[in-house]
Amino acid sequence: MPDHSHARFHNFYESQLRPDPYASVRDRGMIKLIYDRPSQQVRKNENQNYFQSYSANDSDGGRVRVFAPISDELVTDSVFLHILKGDAHYINKYCHRAGVDILNISVHFIRYRAEEGYASFSSPVWLHLDDEPLVLIHLIDLTPNAIGADSVISGMDSKPTNVLRLQKPFDTLIVDRTKKHAVTPLGSSHGTSYRDVMLVNVEAEVRQK
Ligand SMILES: [Fe+2]
Repeated sequence: MPDHSHARFHNFYESQLRPDPYASVRDRGMIKLIYDRPSQQVRKNENQNYFQSYSANDSDGGRVRVFAPISDELVTDSVFLHILKGDAHYINKYCHRAGVDILNISVHFIRYRAEEGYASFSSPVWLHLDDEPLVLIHLIDLTPNAIGADSVISGMDSKPTNVLRLQKPFDTLIVDRTKKHAVTPLGSSHGTSYRDVMLVNVEAEVRQK
């Protein structure tokens, strides 16, 4: 991937994210897109609100959240399209199972940011199932001074069965509703640590309308 493409993609994190209005330990931005399976093309959705149920997120669920907008330039960005091409296989399989050709997806840019002696954390904080039937979690960047930030998987009894770490750019974890997942809080060994992730969320059936 050419360096300038990377730099342009990184710019979404550097210039478009804003402190998460619901937890200042993270910076966030979001864009909702419509995915057309036959053409495998995406376009911007008119509706840009994000809703999770309280049962999926006891920290921030049960209310509509509005995040800083990510510009529609994303839909023509070569790095994004490259990632989406890899995701398409899984998204298409979901389309097939659900019997749909058009899907709402929300793309979340999240920067966890921790100073030495402090912590950044996810919402929700510990093991959970998302409302979304499919979430593709792509690591964009993890600084070497990061402590923690391990992904944890469990069955429905919340006893961890796997621990792994998204470490290199574009390492990806795909989660669905068959297992619970979490990411441990992020600390810093010195200075400020960052964990930049991009989530591609396939929205639940009930929110496809
Ligand atoms: Fe989740």
